Amino acid sequence: MTRIQRVNGYQVLDSRGNPTVEVEVGLEDGSAGRVSVPSGASTGTREAVELRDHDSSRFHGRGVLNAVAHVNGEIAGAVIGMDAEDQVAIDQTMIDLDGTANKARLGANATLGVSVAVAKAAAAAHRTPLYRYVGGASARVLPLPMINIINGGAHADNPLDFQEFMIGPVGAETFSDAVRIGSEVFHTLKADLSAEGQNTNVGDEGGFAPAFRSAEEALDHITSAVERAGYRAGAEVAVLLDPAASEFYTGGSYVCPGESTTRSPDEHADYLRRLVDGYPIISLEDPMAQDDHEGWARLTESIGDRCQLVGDDVFCTNPALLADGIRRGIANSVLVKINQIGTLTETLDTVRTAQRAGYSVVISHRSGETEDTTIADLAVALNCGQIKTGSLSRSDRTAKYNRLLRIEAQLGTQARYAGASTVKGLAPRARVS
Ligand code: PGA
Ligand code: ZN
Repeated sequence: MTRIQRVNGYQVLDSRGNPTVEVEVGLEDGSAGRVSVPSGASTGTREAVELRDHDSSRFHGRGVLNAVAHVNGEIAGAVIGMDAEDQVAIDQTMIDLDGTANKARLGANATLGVSVAVAKAAAAAHRTPLYRYVGGASARVLPLPMINIINGGAHADNPLDFQEFMIGPVGAETFSDAVRIGSEVFHTLKADLSAEGQNTNVGDEGGFAPAFRSAEEALDHITSAVERAGYRAGAEVAVLLDPAASEFYTGGSYVCPGESTTRSPDEHADYLRRLVDGYPIISLEDPMAQDDHEGWARLTESIGDRCQLVGDDVFCTNPALLADGIRRGIANSVLVKINQIGTLTETLDTVRTAQRAGYSVVISHRSGETEDTTIADLAVALNCGQIKTGSLSRSDRTAKYNRLLRIEAQLGTQARYAGASTVKGLAPRARVS
């Protein structure tokens, strides 16, 4: 009954108005699963390939009709008739069919669409929500949300060099409470920015994009908004950053034009250490650049025991890159973006590799998203305890929060809110939830 009967690819739009792949998979029993694929702006160099048409007469070259044609042609031909429950076999079939190391021929946007739509169709056939189909009976942990409230870097056109400034309601009792607290801080910050005459338009991930020039300026505003909203910065609402340092690493230095500074890797690491000492920061993602392995290892050595250090560009959700990083002593946590690797099976391999090594796992959106909520279900399925899915504004972001709120309601008394329990580098006392 769970045999795949049809695979249909389409070109739809993402939150930036760029084309992206949507796939629907239908099974013999009439069940179906549909997913749309996200897309990054500050992509790691070793991500699986997002296939674009490069036909400048359509969508400025960003069309995905070739990827869609692969879904409807070669991939459909290979997977129709297979059992949708055989996720590993289906994903391996696509990997073999593609034949490259990074899905450059068929496109990771094509393979991911089919991979996740297959899982959703199988879940539908079992009348089971996706989080339970993937995670089984023990899936019940609602993640700490990393709520992005100030955007910079490649996600906004302000002078701020660091890409993401986030808050984590570590002191909340429940996920819905965390969302409420986040929203209160978000709106307090908006009022503060407005009172200062700052722009309160939002960037790609729904956070504000004021004309700040330094990380300190953003951090001071955030901690003050937290306090003004009635919470203790640190104990109740912690701060998390994604500098996305690969974006400003040039010629062996960290060059920050907004701030007018250039730092050597050692100076940059020292600067980050001072920020962690001076502000209630519990997590730094991509603090060092993807090619600066030495800087990464040194920073992990110096502050990895007291701050979560999340590898995004440096690992690209790739189990082999992650294993290599673990051997080198890089980071203590991995960011998981399903389109960086291109199948559900490989995503779950990365998660297992991380968990075996004691690394934490943060499920993440991309800056280009859609109304799709797959990652909300994945975060609960894996009980990984952390999700990064943007701000509390813009429907492409709030769709994920709303899905988590529904899952929390559905789980009822079984639901557990992770708080800071899975954040690496915190004193055990702070991690008990
Ligand atoms: P991206 O950025 O989706 O634009 O690549 C998100 C991130 O760096 O975490
Ligand atoms: Zn990142």
